Amino acid sequence: MPALNRQFLYEAVATQAGIPQALLDTGQVAAAVEQFVTRASEYLVGQGDVLERLGCVVQSRMDERRTGWNQAVETSHANWDTRPWASVLALGPSGTGKTETARLLADGIFDGRLISLHCSEVGPESPHAVAMWTGAPPGYVGHGTGGVLTNGLRQHRTAVILFDEIEKAARGVVDHVLLPLLGEGTVTDRNTGETLWATDCVVFCTSNLGSEAHAGSTSAGPSDGNGSGEEEGEARKILSRFLRSEVVSRFHVVLTYRPLDRDGRWQLWSFLEDDLVAKVGDNARVTLDRVARNVVERRLECVGGNARGVQDLFRDQVLPLLAGREVGEHLHITADASGRLQRAGDLHAERQGGSPHDDTAWVIDSGTCRGRSRKAGRGA
Ligand SMILES: Nc1ncnc2c1ncn2[C@@H]1O[C@H](COP(=O)(O)OP(=O)(O)OP(=O)(O)O)[C@@H](O)[C@H]1O
Ligand SMILES: [Mg+2]
Repeated sequence: MPALNRQFLYEAVATQAGIPQALLDTGQVAAAVEQFVTRASEYLVGQGDVLERLGCVVQSRMDERRTGWNQAVETSHANWDTRPWASVLALGPSGTGKTETARLLADGIFDGRLISLHCSEVGPESPHAVAMWTGAPPGYVGHGTGGVLTNGLRQHRTAVILFDEIEKAARGVVDHVLLPLLGEGTVTDRNTGETLWATDCVVFCTSNLGSEAHAGSTSAGPSDGNGSGEEEGEARKILSRFLRSEVVSRFHVVLTYRPLDRDGRWQLWSFLEDDLVAKVGDNARVTLDRVARNVVERRLECVGGNARGVQDLFRDQVLPLLAGREVGEHLHITADASGRLQRAGDLHAERQGGSPHDDTAWVIDSGTCRGRSRKAGRGA
């Protein structure tokens, strides 16, 4: 018969209460947060300091809440802090990893429990669509089915609640859903009138608001100071132009994501190569010759700081080159006269009988974002 040990008790309580086991033990929470920060920083290029800051806030809020609970128990005062575990606003340009952070946080600390809400669904022209989140009152369409948010909270006591692109939500939705959620940790089910609690959840909102203010600074720019009061104060000031200050002041932290710089783009490119190699298996290697490297360099520059653009470029230009590749064959990549990436062997075969491949003869047009080539000595 198995012994009744600590581990067994954790498992039993976690299953009964519907919460991840790691959250029952302070030591395990700290380890999970640390592991989340390490893994997410490896995955999201150039956002290490943002993730570090997020980890600190999640951890310190946990400590704060525990102290509060202990004091409340000792003094028999039921003044619990019912606000969410942490409320986070992630700001930054498109494709910098804001939404991905919410997913990684859910995977790392909440066993993948993510309640994902896209605020464009409840924009100014369709504020009644909020019924999809919180249920509809009697007599309204959708009454009886509940909402994604309320059903999600009923199912999971603890989760990441993602409000993606909050600037797209109608003001009424922000006031009636987000404000009480951030302020008291409550959501009202408009279907049943029941109050649901998000006290053990991390509320994670994303937005592109004010990102042009940081457009010039990249992930490797001068210390971006996430965590410095000055930078966060500046971000909150910009936000107050778009959101009511009651909303802005309720976030425990405002994180500013930076667009990828040149090194960041190349780092992501090489991660994508590694992923490809891992998927293909058979010890393959991917290499770019100097011509291909110039072409990619120029295209990456055109992509700018958006990681999605780097992924698209890799998918469109490199993945098709896998077709017809032999098992174990290395993928040596060059570029043809139109600046299209090609397998070096294929281009060589194409050129048999023509002029030899001269990689010094390539230039990348610096005036536009379209790579072009010219042969040395024949003019542009
Ligand atoms: N810094 C980064 N390093 C590596 N990959 C990244 C980075 N940022 C984003 N990605 C990848 O790019 C894709 C888009 O990321 P994500 O959805 O998190 O962007 P976002 O900041 O939320 O953009 P948007 O404001 O357009 O919603 C994802 O596949 C993500 O893994
Ligand atoms: Mg996003």
